[in-house]
Amino acid sequence: MGWKTLDDMDLAGKRVLVRVDINVPVENGKVTDTTRIDRIAPTVKDILAKGGKPILLAHFGRPKGKVVLDMSLRVTLPALEAALGTKVAFDETLDAAEAQTDEQREAKVILLENIRFHPGEEKNDPAFAQRLAGLGDVYVNDAFSAAHRAHASTEALAKLLPCCAGRLMQAELEALESALGKPERPVVAVVGGAKVSTKLELLGNLVEKVDYLIIGGGMANTFLAAEGIDVGKSLAEHDMTEIATQIKLKALDLGCQLVLPADVVVAREFKANAANETVPATQCPSDAMILDAGPDAVARIEGIFEEAKTLIWNGPLGAFEIAPFDTATNAAATAAAALTRAGKLISVAGGGDTVAALNTSGAAGDFTYISTAGGAFLEWMEGKTLPGVAALEG
Ligand code: 3PG
Repeated sequence: MGWKTLDDMDLAGKRVLVRVDINVPVENGKVTDTTRIDRIAPTVKDILAKGGKPILLAHFGRPKGKVVLDMSLRVTLPALEAALGTKVAFDETLDAAEAQTDEQREAKVILLENIRFHPGEEKNDPAFAQRLAGLGDVYVNDAFSAAHRAHASTEALAKLLPCCAGRLMQAELEALESALGKPERPVVAVVGGAKVSTKLELLGNLVEKVDYLIIGGGMANTFLAAEGIDVGKSLAEHDMTEIATQIKLKALDLGCQLVLPADVVVAREFKANAANETVPATQCPSDAMILDAGPDAVARIEGIFEEAKTLIWNGPLGAFEIAPFDTATNAAATAAAALTRAGKLISVAGGGDTVAALNTSGAAGDFTYISTAGGAFLEWMEGKTLPGVAALEG
């Protein structure tokens, strides 16, 4: 790993620009899930303990270079102050940040308004980055979940100041390295979700790296259809069957076992508690749709988990948002959690719906690591270079 950590930096008396990701869900003016805010607290507290003054840079939503009032970061202040246990001064403009009022001088921590209100941010504009650099002496990137963006506050800034990874960035990168970089084998990947087309690069990269690739959700239907199996009214991308076959052949060639459900739970309606039945995957009735993996499929997955040393998980196995079609996801997650607790498995999960699905199962707390990232986690799993991480490596 070619980047520095907070342990390598002298921060005493320094103004420390910290890129964080506090792009959190908000309803009726209140933060509804503080996970991302809670996860940056160790970094900010460490900087304070080392005598530095944290100045937080963050985005919220996609205002596209304009001031959009309901995308103000002000809404995060109460949750931020609670997580950090200290008052946070809020600077609405860069002019205000540059002017340094008494309140800012006294406040231990400063938060700048949504950095994406400035057109230079997403353009990765060198002049804008230079202006940001003027506000600090050191740059810390703690926003792994925004590291797939080459923006001024995630990329250009790292080249202008002495820089390092924050604690969350460090933890994310170390967890991902242990899951896919130099993992203990056998390695198993669970990839679920609706569409093969959105995860093509991911599947292509994973078959090169893992020993078992378990496919779930709507994606599995596309793979079943590619085998000539009638999947009835199931969500499936019939124009992707050729590509699914290529992925399967590549897996075969590389000694990666691609695992599809042997049995499935089908229903005639997509709604909670819809009447359902379990059938072999080859026998989906033509008027029904597959909404979950069946018990035999779950037993096979559990068996693979028992044999595995490392698990990387992205995407649910079924329509987890409507009971009882969350059954396979919950059962497999619970099995992974138990093996992790017993010290037999390293389990890392992340990306979009995955964390929500694992939280519902109650198993998330026992995973080795749950990433806060959506798109960045996926791009990392796809084997892509993340500009925000590359910039830290110098
Ligand atoms: C996220 O929520 O995944 C990150 O904050 C990145 O947001 P973006 O997709 O708007 O860049």
